[in-house]
Amino acid sequence: MIGGGYVGLVSAACFAEFGTEVAVVETHPGRLATLRKGEIPIYEPGLDKLVSENIEAGRLSFGNDVAAAVAGADAIFIAVGTPPRNGDGHADLTYVFAAAEQVARAMTGYAVIVTKSTVPVGTGRRIAETVRRLRPDLAFDVASNPEFLREGNAIGDFMKPDRVVIGTDTDQPGGTERAQEIMRRLYRPLYVIEAPILFTSLESSELIKYAANSFLAMKISFINEMADLCERVGADVHELARGIGMDHRIGRKFLHAGPGYGGSCFPKDTLALMRIAQEAGASSRLVEATVQVNDARKASMGARIMSACGGSVRGKTIAVFGLTFKPGTDDMRDAPSIPIIHRLIENGALVRAFDPAGMTAARPLLPKHDITYCTDAIDAATGANAVLVLTEWNEFRAISPDRHRDLMTGKVVVDLRNIWEPSSMARAGFDYSSVGRPERRIELERGTAAA
Ligand code: UDX
Repeated sequence: MIGGGYVGLVSAACFAEFGTEVAVVETHPGRLATLRKGEIPIYEPGLDKLVSENIEAGRLSFGNDVAAAVAGADAIFIAVGTPPRNGDGHADLTYVFAAAEQVARAMTGYAVIVTKSTVPVGTGRRIAETVRRLRPDLAFDVASNPEFLREGNAIGDFMKPDRVVIGTDTDQPGGTERAQEIMRRLYRPLYVIEAPILFTSLESSELIKYAANSFLAMKISFINEMADLCERVGADVHELARGIGMDHRIGRKFLHAGPGYGGSCFPKDTLALMRIAQEAGASSRLVEATVQVNDARKASMGARIMSACGGSVRGKTIAVFGLTFKPGTDDMRDAPSIPIIHRLIENGALVRAFDPAGMTAARPLLPKHDITYCTDAIDAATGANAVLVLTEWNEFRAISPDRHRDLMTGKVVVDLRNIWEPSSMARAGFDYSSVGRPERRIELERGTAAA
């Protein structure tokens, strides 16, 4: 496994748990030292246990020597980073091709070279060309095996996937079977639980990853637009999501309205898909609209909060519950909290922030002034004029509204993740607003609705 980052580490630990011997190559010295001690440099529930147990069982090892890891391997996974290239939306493949070259030089016999990193369509074939050029003597195959892991749920997603997608070079008939056989052996435990394993061409597999993430992002942008519409016409976005989601063709998942999607995948993969389409001379208007709706959504949240605070946040203290792009992770990449908090502070607010896991990663990304990092949600709410929910951590759901009302100096609550019930918040005396749920019903509960 070339690369001990998020994807490489989770995949390596899970393959080792399946009974395969896995050698991980990690070139960052600090990270390598941490991993060798059985410690995990990322936040992922259950991963520390899986890694240390498999190190102990002798199935999982970490090193920095590509040659040692590659010698005698049946499958070589490239799981290095593909960050967006300076501003143009393309994935930066420098690390992928550097890894492919090192692997080619180090190979001692037949192996299948598999990309786990999310790479543009055509990369698998380019890797094959690179290896062929450096090692014309060698028999090998290339495959694409994208990951669909959600942060915070990665082990479950790997062990019980909706599907595994494996693309092989269907232009090379003989080689394809050999590569498929090795991949089937690696994923054998999944056949027992009848997880579908889908074999496709290289190009299809590479595109499936981008298409899946873009489709999910599109579902979120759709429900966010519907949430705005619900607010205007007095409908409830939860009822709407349930009502459309019961149609199996639509499905219930990924229909939670919120402040817009973030994270390491959706923003990057939607942009990359647009570039791929552009270069191929194809249209990607739905994906473009998805991205625009999401950007506009994040930008509009500041105004929404200001209006909930009576038109201005100047001099007001706002308690922010949650900073990460979603719960169950310490990841702050493209988190909606970043533009929202910047906007509030630019407009004169004082922020008291708390996140159960993301505060260390958040500090360098948030303004240096007018923000206090708190020990818990209650601490953040103390003395605040308003509470703003940005991430739906379970521990926030468990807070009793009465408790934080008594600590606050104001009574405004802006819940951008709909974690509380409007009726109970209204009963507790809050000036509560959420997304896509009718104000009128809240006003009726509060007894302040106009006749
Ligand atoms: C995603 C994909 O789910 C995963 O298959 C892929 O491999 C990597 O990208 P991840 O980024 O970890 O995983 O998080 P996910 O749970 O998908 O959430 C992404 C973003 O969408 C978050 O900001 C989340 O808050 C938001 N979201 C998700 C919504 O706003 N509404 C929803 O209904 C679902």
